[in-house]
Amino acid sequence: MKRKKYVLGVDLGTSSCKSILIDETGQVIADATVGYPVYMPQANWVEQDPADWEKAVTLSIRQVLSKSNIDTGQLVGIGLSGQMHGLVALDAQGRVLRPAILWNDQRSADQCQRIIEMVGGKENLIEMINNDMLPGYTASKILWLAENEPYIYDKACMFLNPKDYIRYKLTGSFATDVSDASGTGLFDVKRRCWSEGLLSILGIQRQYLPQCFESPEITGYITETACECTGLPKGLPVVAGGGDAVIQTTGTGLVKEGVLGIIIGTAGIVAMGLDSYKFNRRGALQIFCNNYPGTWHAMGVTLSAGASLEWFKNILYDQNFGGTVYKDMDKLAADSPAGSNGLIFLPYLFGERCPYADPSAKGTFIGLTYKHQKSDMIRAVLEGVVFSLKQVADLITECSDVPISEIRTSGGGSKSELWRQIQADVFQLPVRTVSGGEHGGAYGAALIAGVGCGIWPDVFEAVKVLKIETETMPNKKNKELYDSLYSVYKNMYSMLKPAFDSLSNVTNLFG
Ligand code: XUL
Repeated sequence: MKRKKYVLGVDLGTSSCKSILIDETGQVIADATVGYPVYMPQANWVEQDPADWEKAVTLSIRQVLSKSNIDTGQLVGIGLSGQMHGLVALDAQGRVLRPAILWNDQRSADQCQRIIEMVGGKENLIEMINNDMLPGYTASKILWLAENEPYIYDKACMFLNPKDYIRYKLTGSFATDVSDASGTGLFDVKRRCWSEGLLSILGIQRQYLPQCFESPEITGYITETACECTGLPKGLPVVAGGGDAVIQTTGTGLVKEGVLGIIIGTAGIVAMGLDSYKFNRRGALQIFCNNYPGTWHAMGVTLSAGASLEWFKNILYDQNFGGTVYKDMDKLAADSPAGSNGLIFLPYLFGERCPYADPSAKGTFIGLTYKHQKSDMIRAVLEGVVFSLKQVADLITECSDVPISEIRTSGGGSKSELWRQIQADVFQLPVRTVSGGEHGGAYGAALIAGVGCGIWPDVFEAVKVLKIETETMPNKKNKELYDSLYSVYKNMYSMLKPAFDSLSNVTNLFG
């Protein structure tokens, strides 16, 4: 009898590590999540201890293996996904030199500006890496280290993204994949290799960066020590995998142009797979290599998606309300008609990244009258988030010149039926959720591991295991109304920008 094959996907997130085991049909056999702390030693600094990651990865893998109770001889490989843009600096002996600096750490904003000046302007930078330099990106963090902690920088011999530190611990080799490398700000996304030009301008030696692989390629094998810690068989192949923001969309089937991915977590990610390279002329999007050779990935991140609803929940509800609070909000919001009786919400609660890169943008309700109820305000929050996602989607359509035929939604926000209906109505497109979507990057990493280890011949075959779980069709009657509100929404940011800036000056007085 043919023995079943299994693959493992491990996602090193910002608050926890999730490991899952799937079989050849794509079914999730077991999963386990283990958390770790985030440290904020100064305002705008966000750090983690790689030793905490190691412990969590080991424990979550052990838990998955014990829950599934499979014969580990049937495992064919493991794939890695992880929080992007972070910096782990190692010395010549492979020891961690300081806490990891994470993607949401803002300390290197000045270094970003300096990098842009060093290359002779933003246009030159986009020519080199097809992206703008965001404060979160690894390149500016390396510069920060050189300028602020030279005693550490001088000892550093390897700079890794978070998941690649885990790979080093599992396999002993220094390697990354093209999608995570794209988010370092040091990668030539068009040619799918490190940008030698930018490295030499920044004085970063090429040998201090890991070897770069396509996502399904095998980068190494489980070592004896890793085998003892995790319970994984020695010699098990570890495939390259991908940065979480990219590989979680692969895990929902976004591998071809025309299907738009919307992930509503704390932030909102809007993404599309690209069949060919596209030039990121305005630099407003993030265009990275996708998880399959010869494919790319366009994405924009709006900072307060689920966070907007969470913020409003915290204002409206008592902490002790219990687990049904989002259901209650959905029910209330459904009492308000499409368009929230003319109320519009701008979701810039943490400033914004895309379509406007503006830390001083502010959240706003526009159009309040005496008649508005709680239900209108909740619905306006849901609609405002979808309008902000649509603005990112418009940029993707403009850049790719590809019409969108369908939306695949995932993340916590995709659980709300009403929010899915609002997406369908604002975009006037079918909105679908698929199996595996709730497992985020871990599911994509498992699929890519399956491709790399011979379960599926390519990623296009692999995603055929996904099953449509829900389908929400657009209500045509709401088209005109939402089109009109969306045009009002789109004008609001530029009209209010002077007010946001003046308010930022005043709020600085509050410390
Ligand atoms: C992507 C991004 C986040 C991080 C953390 O650009 O900043 O999705 O990868 O998950």
